[in-house]
This record gives sequence, C-alpha cells and structure tokens, in this order.
Amino acid sequence: MKQFIKQLRFLYLVKFKWRKYKIGRNFYAGVRVYFWAREKLMIGNNFYIGRDSQIETDSIIGDNVIFGNKVAIVGRYDHHYQKVGVPTRLAPRIRDKNYNWKGLDQLTIIEDDVWIGYGSVIMGGIRIGKGSIVAAGSVVTKDVEPFSIYAGNPARKIKSRFDSPDELEKHIWLEEQILASHKNYRGVESIDV
Ligand SMILES: CC(C)(COP(=O)(O)OP(=O)(O)OC[C@H]1O[C@@H](n2cnc3c(N)ncnc32)[C@H](O)[C@@H]1OP(=O)(O)O)[C@@H](O)C(=O)NCCC(=O)NCCS
Repeated sequence: MKQFIKQLRFLYLVKFKWRKYKIGRNFYAGVRVYFWAREKLMIGNNFYIGRDSQIETDSIIGDNVIFGNKVAIVGRYDHHYQKVGVPTRLAPRIRDKNYNWKGLDQLTIIEDDVWIGYGSVIMGGIRIGKGSIVAAGSVVTKDVEPFSIYAGNPARKIKSRFDSPDELEKHIWLEEQILASHKNYRGVESIDV
C-alpha cells in the first residue's frame, strides 16, 4: 500500500505538477523538491533527487544521476543587480517576462552518472562531466571534469574518481554491460533492503 501511494505521488509529480518538463523513467524525488526552468528542464532515467533540493535554472540532466538532500542549482543572475539606481530587490528578475539581462542563455548540464553530495550548490550554466562526484557542502562555480571528485567552496578537484587510469578504463568498458543488464531497473523504490 505504502509503495502504491509513493508510485501515485511520482505519477502526480511527473504527469501533472512538472508536466512541462521532460522527466525520464524511474524518477525519485524526496519531499519539498522544487523545480523551475525558464525554457527547459530535461531529466534522464533513474534520477534521484533528495528532499529539500531545488533546480532553478534551465538544465539538462543525464541518466543515473543522484542529487543528495538539500542540493540546489541556482541562477547566477537571478536579479539584475547592475540596474543603476535600483535596489536589487526591485530590479528585474530572470523570472520576469521582460527580463533581458545576463543569464538568459545559460544551460546547466549534468552528465550521466554524476553524484552531487548533500547540501551542495551548483551555479547555473556550468557543466558537470560524466561520472563525477561533488563532495558534500561544495559550491560549484566552474565546469567539473569527467570522472573527478570536486570539493569545497569554490569547488576544486581533489582527486580522480578512480585510483588509476587502468581502473577508469576498466570501468568505462564494463559499465556498458552493467547498464545493458539494468535495462529493467525499476528505481530505488523497488529495491528491497
Ligand atoms: C566526495 C567523497 C565521496 C570523497 O570521499 P573520500 O574519497 O573518502 O575523500 P578523502 O577523505 O580522501 O578526501 C580527500 C581530500 O578532500 C577533502 N574533502 C573530502 N570531502 C570534502 C568535502 N565535502 N568538502 C571539503 N573537502 C573535502 C578531505 O578533507 C581531503 O583533504 P586532504 O587531502 O587535505 O586531507 C565524500 O567526501 C563525500 O562528500 N561524499 C558525499 C556524502 C553525501 O553527501 N552523502 C549524502 C548524499 S547521498
């Protein structure tokens, strides 16, 4: 029964509340998740987004991506703070129809198999490369290289995800087979733990 109610909730979120966005299969969203995109939000399969997280920029998110709890993608230029003589609070906001300042062309891209740790903030318009990890509590202001671990504020590369190039090569080779065998993956909710 509990499982059924959860599935109904996801159905409501994907098919009704967020119907103007494109969301793939096996979507999981915790409570109080918030989405807003001016033009587009496209999310791949098997996306997990923890509670109290928010996506507030145009974004493309790949397959098998995890956002921990309290993760945010925020717009760098949400408010036109250089409108001379106008307090930022009263200045045009990116959500206004007639907004024509910076940030309109910014698209955040999170590639496949990215894990964003608890409480991280991602600035709009950056690209997080495939297979990377953003450590808990980071503030990501620049692009993240693939298969890397970034941490801190501002986030910097602390190491590669794998300990050696051989392991990375093996991972890339094996992953294709693993993904093929997970074609029928039904999402975290279906896993008995
Ligand atoms: C990214 C992560 C997996 C790295 O773990 P690890 O491989 O054990 O990393 P290490 O402990 O070897 O850290 C390497 C360096 O980065 C630093 N570091 C690790 N995590 C950090 C963080 N969140 N912020 C800042 N620095 C961090 C370490 O202090 C260490 O610094 P040093 O070399 O100066 O000693 C882990 O730190 C993390 O953040 N996991 C996500 C946890 C989470 O959010 N869970 C809930 C969401 S699902």
